[in-house]
Amino acid sequence: MPVAEATISVMDRGFLFGDGVYEVIPVFGNKLLRPDGHLKRLQNSLDRISLPNPNDDDTWLNIFDDLLARNDGGDRAIYLQISRGAYQKRDLGIKTEYPPTVFAMVLQVVAPDIEKVSAGISVITVDDFRWAACDIKSTSLVANVMLKQQAVTAGVDDAILIKNCMVSEGTASNVFVVKNDVLVTPPTGHKLLPGITRDLVIEIAESNTILVEERELKEAELYTADEIWMTSSTREIAPVISLNSEAVGAGTAGDMWKRVMDLYQQYKQQLRSSNEKL
Ligand SMILES: Cc1ncc(COP(=O)(O)O)c(C=O)c1O
Repeated sequence: MPVAEATISVMDRGFLFGDGVYEVIPVFGNKLLRPDGHLKRLQNSLDRISLPNPNDDDTWLNIFDDLLARNDGGDRAIYLQISRGAYQKRDLGIKTEYPPTVFAMVLQVVAPDIEKVSAGISVITVDDFRWAACDIKSTSLVANVMLKQQAVTAGVDDAILIKNCMVSEGTASNVFVVKNDVLVTPPTGHKLLPGITRDLVIEIAESNTILVEERELKEAELYTADEIWMTSSTREIAPVISLNSEAVGAGTAGDMWKRVMDLYQQYKQQLRSSNEKL
């Protein structure tokens, strides 16, 4: 049905408590980007909040297939949200007799204009005051909203989150640093969301003989980095050219960014032209 006609109960726990999880899956041509990775992360999010998965992977893929067929277009993304459903009473306790609420829609995405993207973004560092369960792709995003607003108020594009002098991630992205031709990104765990774009960037880099280190990244390393990138499904790979009002490296998108961004675009193009089923 049209999004404007879709409704949910005001008693839905997704609405009352942010008690739910979600995924955003990019689609190029008619091909989902990394469906297995997204469905695995969805399962992890559901397991972590003790919400049984209402569908197996094949059923999800059929739902996505159907949704894409009804919303034809070029590059798109699927938004999927599962909440713990609407209970009769507002009560934190989990009851298993209520079915979850499942909502999926197709988002139209504008392909990033490479020239614009290569102009880079400006960011600030902010204190990561979030909880110790950031690997859950939770719909409770108020902390991320507050952190993003700090960047907006400072007149920059985004923020890099710092916990105990260590980099965790962006407000809606993962962070990479390039130093002496080596790519460094913080390891997955409870401090950050395991980004699918992050995985893909690591894979693309390694298969092109670029060294990658997944290790704790000190905030101090940001200030001596040759390049800093922020990665996500919607942003792809954004080069950071200014950090806390200081230039990053030469103050322009770096050579390593150009190389990996080019490989990433090739990957997308292959996906668009591949004939495999979803
Ligand atoms: C907090 C956070 N970290 C990282 C990411 C990047 O994840 P992905 O590459 O799967 O889009 C996102 C995406 O929305 C995010 O919200």
